[in-house]
Amino acid sequence: MGKYILSLDQGTTSSRAIVFDHQGSIIATAQKEFKQIFPQPGWVEHDAMEIWTSQASVAAEALLKARISGDNVAAIGITNQRETTIVWDRKTGKPIHNAIVWQDRRTAAYCDELKKSGREDFIKNKTGLRIDAYFSATKVKWLLDNIPGARQRAENGELAFGTVDSWLTWNFSNSQLHITDVSNASRTLLFNIHDMKWDEELLSLFNIPASMLPEVKSSSEVYGYSEANLTPYRIPIAGIAGDQQAALFGQLCTAPGMIKNTYGTGCFMVLNTGDKPIPSQNNLLTTVAWQINGKTTYALEGSIFIGGAVVQWLRDGLGIIRHSADVEKLAATVPHSDGVYFVPAFAGLGAPYWNQHARGTMVGLTRGSGAAHVARAALDSIAFQTMDVLKAMERDAGMPITELRVDGGATRNNLLMQFQADLLQIRVVRPVITETTALGAAYLAGLAVGFWDNIDSIAAQWKIDATFDPSMDPQQQSKYCKDWKRAIRAAQAWTE
Ligand code: G3P
Repeated sequence: MGKYILSLDQGTTSSRAIVFDHQGSIIATAQKEFKQIFPQPGWVEHDAMEIWTSQASVAAEALLKARISGDNVAAIGITNQRETTIVWDRKTGKPIHNAIVWQDRRTAAYCDELKKSGREDFIKNKTGLRIDAYFSATKVKWLLDNIPGARQRAENGELAFGTVDSWLTWNFSNSQLHITDVSNASRTLLFNIHDMKWDEELLSLFNIPASMLPEVKSSSEVYGYSEANLTPYRIPIAGIAGDQQAALFGQLCTAPGMIKNTYGTGCFMVLNTGDKPIPSQNNLLTTVAWQINGKTTYALEGSIFIGGAVVQWLRDGLGIIRHSADVEKLAATVPHSDGVYFVPAFAGLGAPYWNQHARGTMVGLTRGSGAAHVARAALDSIAFQTMDVLKAMERDAGMPITELRVDGGATRNNLLMQFQADLLQIRVVRPVITETTALGAAYLAGLAVGFWDNIDSIAAQWKIDATFDPSMDPQQQSKYCKDWKRAIRAAQAWTE
């Protein structure tokens, strides 16, 4: 058997490939950014062919950098930006349109209509999700309704739908596989997370022919083999999971109650809730984490739309820093934000508020406020939003959360991580390997082919880089929380 696992991480802004060894250490990495297409305000598309070619090329590049060939690779794991929707012709393999990205809001008005018709609970009970343009179903419907001839072709069985994992396995397997895994299926708004099947009532509600759908598989099994464009070798494709679920697995949050937060452009917090889906009473999503050996693990998820992106705004919008990394230095020149609160609701607010109409708001400014206070307030906002989601998680899960595992770019910022621990009043832990998304997919693939025997055998690979313990005076913490709540109210009041 090969000595390495090749993990493919197809994200929203770049395609990445990482070669891991048996210790879970990174041997080589390759990454390629690709084009973001904005045809109209609120619309976001990707060229599906570019998704595939960029992913294939970084896979080859990573092997080259690792100085290994395909026969050294025991398995391929795939993880991906979720919800993004691709429809293609089964015969030619050509997409009928660009991929419609998860961020795309073109179906928001249709979602509002659905909500008004009182379908929210019906859909939530089956899928664990809310009615929102974020998920795949309304995007598929849009394609069938708007691309000339598409609906007829779909009804004739000529078209295939898939999220990015399906699209990649289709291409890597040279059209042999049309599959998805349970974690990706659970983000489509078409998948019943209780009986773990595509749901006929939802398919008929969204008017989507069942013949278009991929076969749903577990997250860890040999689905088939890479056939084309990668190497001359047949490598088992053996793990698939949506990127946030893969990160949960890569963080080894494999027991109920374990939770991770990924600090990227947005922030995604996911809590392992074990073998039962917990319906959210606090505006979170109930979702499938993974399925291994027939056993399904569920999760609660809270998505924050603007996390690290607030730092990009300080750089590109406000111009108070030159590089993102400069924010920590600038913020550290003041001991606190001095009463300035910044709610970066540039695209409305996600969990737990789900207010599309909220807007970015800064409050508490005085004559003494300066760039450093604004930078500090911007960083604080990432931690405050995370706190709101974690509190909602605790209420839903009915169990106290005692530790938060963190990953993603912004976790390098020690100032932010300390403030996060202070606000949450729990320990925040950063692992050595923060490439947890790719690592999670590698683990899922490696487990399927016996590269690793079981979860216990990889558990020891999770190593701590830094821990942040709460050190803030609880009275101060509660004052911060109260003021943040007022700031959130202000951001929501703006368009009332
Ligand atoms: O739900 C969207 C999420 O999967 C996107 O993740 O890391 O590609 O921004 P990312």
